[in-house]
Amino acid sequence: MSNNDIIVSLDIGTSKVRAIIGEVTNGTLNIIGVGSADSEGIRKGAIVDIDQTVQSIRSAVEHAEQMVGIQISEVYVGISGNHIGLQSSHGVVAVQNEDREIGEEDILRVLKAAEVIALPPEREVIDVVAKQYIVDGLEGIQDPRGMIGVRLEVEATIVTGAKTPIHNLLRCVEKSGLKVKDLVLMSLGAGGLALSKDEKSRGAVLVDIGAGATTIAVYEEGSLIATSTIPIGGEFVTNDIAYGLRTLTDQAEKVKLKYGCAWIDDAASEVVFKVLRIGSNVEKEFNQEDLAAIIEPRVQEIFQLIRQEVKRLGYSDLPGGYILTGGTVSMPGVLKAAQAELSASVRIAVPDYIGVRDPGFTSGVGILHYVVRSFRGRGSSAGASANKKPPGRSKPSAAPSQETAQKQGFVERLKNIFSDFI
Ligand SMILES: Nc1ncnc2c1ncn2[C@@H]1O[C@H](COP(=O)(O)OP(=O)(O)OP(=O)(O)O)[C@@H](O)[C@H]1O
Ligand SMILES: [Mg+2]
Repeated sequence: MSNNDIIVSLDIGTSKVRAIIGEVTNGTLNIIGVGSADSEGIRKGAIVDIDQTVQSIRSAVEHAEQMVGIQISEVYVGISGNHIGLQSSHGVVAVQNEDREIGEEDILRVLKAAEVIALPPEREVIDVVAKQYIVDGLEGIQDPRGMIGVRLEVEATIVTGAKTPIHNLLRCVEKSGLKVKDLVLMSLGAGGLALSKDEKSRGAVLVDIGAGATTIAVYEEGSLIATSTIPIGGEFVTNDIAYGLRTLTDQAEKVKLKYGCAWIDDAASEVVFKVLRIGSNVEKEFNQEDLAAIIEPRVQEIFQLIRQEVKRLGYSDLPGGYILTGGTVSMPGVLKAAQAELSASVRIAVPDYIGVRDPGFTSGVGILHYVVRSFRGRGSSAGASANKKPPGRSKPSAAPSQETAQKQGFVERLKNIFSDFI
């Protein structure tokens, strides 16, 4: 295992594309660079314009490259959306080693066996997540490597998605000149980062409230068991402000970021600001209470919809409560509004790394966290050489030693599956 591995994540969201550079030192992740760009070409979390999305990706990646002084060639890409599905699966193999010691190979084979499920032609497998391994009937094993056995089984969750959005996502990243090392379900990444072991095992709901989409992820018995995306988020709040104050969307967004408050009782009438009225040069003064009177009902509605959706998924009163993340939860008063609407324990999760202490970064950091955990679990290097170069140099293949990473990437897995048929 090399000491300084560099891994890069890409979170392509409705309002921002974020590239985050992590350095993995002896299995510990540090965030060393971040690049953000305003998103163009994404609506409600879905890519609607390839060229605009490519521009946004390039811009975010360039910012991150400049910050750290490296060339990025390979990225782990976050995926989410209402096309994502979870399915339980079971795989069984005979341990191949003569001495019956379970090795890396056996684990890969059993996971691959679990991956063989009947899927409609328009869907494909994104990831296979082991819930537990069973060695010769003994259940509850998290890491069977080194154990002696004849029969290795896995109980796994298969993450699937619709081919069209997956291929559009891959296409955008590849057109940006980057190799997709793997796709990572953002709910898995964010869940691993933001939820405690206790919350995951007792049952909790992770909610990512972004700009155009809100993603719900239900965890129980240590695993992600349900996920759903609803097309609502901070953009709705901004639109309400634009409508309520009769101003343009970009003015409304600025005012929201600076003075926004989701709990009327916490807003101050002495905090005043001016906005340009639409279709005129006249500025009108408002105070923070006026603004909160617009925001609070919308935020309340968002939490009502979240609660309904969790209920629709078949869960209520999970002991771990709700853990909120995503850019929208940065707004003062959101926690109080959530506590009032959800009537459960609620907390806000923020990545605990210098430079990314903002709930908008949870998914991007979560992707890196997930990659590091997967490799640690597999006892192999997190891949990716530092390959540090002075900034501004032309872009050759950035990190040859990234190839040494042993976890099979999504694209490689696709190739393998394909080769099975030849
Ligand atoms: N301090 C703040 N106060 C209020 N709203 C905020 C604040 N910071 C960010 N936001 C809002 O959060 C939203 C962006 O969140 P985030 O970056 O998580 O979304 P995204 O990942 O780009 O989009 P999505 O996940 O919906 O595709 C925007 O609507 C933005 O206005
Ligand atoms: Mg997002």
